[in-house]
Amino acid sequence: MGKGFGVNFESDDGVNTGSNPSIHEVDAERRHVLKCTATAVALLMGSHGWGTTGQGKPLGFTAVPPSMLDVLTVPPEYEAQVLYRWGDATGMPTGAPQFNADASNSWQEQSLQAGMHHDGMEYFALDKNPRHGVIAVNHEYTDDGLLHSDGMTNWTADKVKKSQAAHGVSVIEVVQQQGQWRVVMNSKYARRITAITPMRLSGPAAAHALLKTGDDPAGLLALGTINNCASGRTPWGTYLTCEENWNGVFSAPAKPSEDQRRYGLRPGGFGYRWHEFDARFDVQKTPNEPNRFGWVVEIDPMDASQIPVKRTALGRFKHEGATTALTQDGRAVVYMGDDERFEYVYKFVSRDRVKPGGFKTNQNLLDHGILYVARFDTRGFGTWLPLVHGENGLNAQAGFSSQAEVVTRCRQAADVVGATKMDRPEWIAVHPQTGEVYITLTNNSQRGQLGKVVDDANPRADNVMGHIIRWREGATSSADAAALEFRWMHFVLAGDPNAEKVEHQGNIKGDIYGSPDGLQFDAGGMLWIQTDISTSAQGKGAYKNIGNNMMLCADPQTGLTKRFLTGPPGCEVTGVAFTPDRKNLFVNIQHPGETASERSNPEQPKKFSHWPDGPNGGRPRSATVVIRRKDGGVVGT
Ligand code: FEO
Ligand code: CA
Ligand code: CA
Ligand code: CA
Repeated sequence: MGKGFGVNFESDDGVNTGSNPSIHEVDAERRHVLKCTATAVALLMGSHGWGTTGQGKPLGFTAVPPSMLDVLTVPPEYEAQVLYRWGDATGMPTGAPQFNADASNSWQEQSLQAGMHHDGMEYFALDKNPRHGVIAVNHEYTDDGLLHSDGMTNWTADKVKKSQAAHGVSVIEVVQQQGQWRVVMNSKYARRITAITPMRLSGPAAAHALLKTGDDPAGLLALGTINNCASGRTPWGTYLTCEENWNGVFSAPAKPSEDQRRYGLRPGGFGYRWHEFDARFDVQKTPNEPNRFGWVVEIDPMDASQIPVKRTALGRFKHEGATTALTQDGRAVVYMGDDERFEYVYKFVSRDRVKPGGFKTNQNLLDHGILYVARFDTRGFGTWLPLVHGENGLNAQAGFSSQAEVVTRCRQAADVVGATKMDRPEWIAVHPQTGEVYITLTNNSQRGQLGKVVDDANPRADNVMGHIIRWREGATSSADAAALEFRWMHFVLAGDPNAEKVEHQGNIKGDIYGSPDGLQFDAGGMLWIQTDISTSAQGKGAYKNIGNNMMLCADPQTGLTKRFLTGPPGCEVTGVAFTPDRKNLFVNIQHPGETASERSNPEQPKKFSHWPDGPNGGRPRSATVVIRRKDGGVVGT
């Protein structure tokens, strides 16, 4: 049997998860069948099993223990430097205002500074020097209590504008000199993309009636990108940013339509209060404006004048990540999760092949192709179901009169074709040598509630800890990313194996963690896992031995996992990028000090964290950190 199968199929935690039998409660006979099937699949895939490309000396660092301290901890043989905090100047030629510790910067100044809540990011090398590049980094959401001197009291149009300016993406030029990294000022690459930046709508939904508004009767030019969560990079060198919880900034009518409810639009929104001063976010006044969000946006990090493009062919949902691969004949594949309970996993396969020449020669590539959604069948089999108008019941009778409607009402289309409802799909990572695909399912405490049932892929009814699934494309060992079938298995069920409740017990080999979220392979084939245990749960109950959120490194062949970094209280660890020589690792610390309650109160986070500026610095700040080995070696080896 392939080594990797031992990671999950032989686990036996005795979980009884509900009416739909899970892989953990099968009887002996079925377990035998599963093992035989696993063996057969392993044989089909070749005798080497999964992910066997570990190089050099994997996991060659000293693991750090769980921590609840208000510090960032890395292994003793590493050092970390804070590089780009909320409020730091982006380095645009139009100005570089200093951050005011009392958060008194204007919205215009915020438009020239790092936004809040850094999430996904990518590093693009500029020249032969691996330590000179451009970083594109998302600013996922705002904590408006922290963002304004007096929090959310005295709510004004200017506060809305500042909140909008703190969303979006930063593009920064960075360089390492004399052992220290810095953001380059007066850079031709630097730009801030915010909730009001013009962007082109492209692909099948562009110019469709559903995307037309009073301000944009052609349906071709949207304003802004928001709630940008995870990311991707294309083979031709552009940045993909993913609009995730964009529904939160809209205020829906008192009785939202079925389509509006399907995307989580509700009256009053989720506390952003933009609609009070900006009619664009009042759905009663601009009913089609929400249809212009929920897309993947393509940004050329090398051209600050490029108009970002919303790629509607990739579907509209709560996008978490856009990880790319190439098919054997050179077409682009984009893997994507929809991060909400009981939502789906998607992939897009382009019609055309990637051509040499960067963005200019590939600028329409993501507009033509087929979008698929995943069905995780039993016994480790899986199928990609095309979301193509006229196929699989996606016709006028089912409410879809065009491909534009299929991609705009993508969740509903995935319902029609019978995709598998997953436990909150977050990041997807593709193994650089084998092409195997890994996905984090961060958690779903409601899996077994309200008549919902567990299934083979989502086997725990009270899945507060989350899990990681991996699959190999194709029914045979050919592993083409364009395949219509796949073979999947669990890589790990997260959680402390010694947790009190049996359903919270994971089967991690090595250091424990919960709620995996960020996920990326380095070029050597080691898997980096970042966690996002919710701020209200850290250090409590089932999470009490786990501490603050963290980053770990796992060997995909053995499953062995070591804790590499722990963050300050209330933070999430997210975003991961390497310099091409792998000697510098960039990581984001998002929302240090956040608590579940009193988010609108500027004093609240300070009670829990002063990271990174310390007790005299005032407010905690999300930040990009760069981590290096003290001896200058390759990170993680
Ligand atoms: Fe923004 Fe699903 O994490
Ligand atoms: Ca986040
Ligand atoms: Ca995430
Ligand atoms: Ca998360």
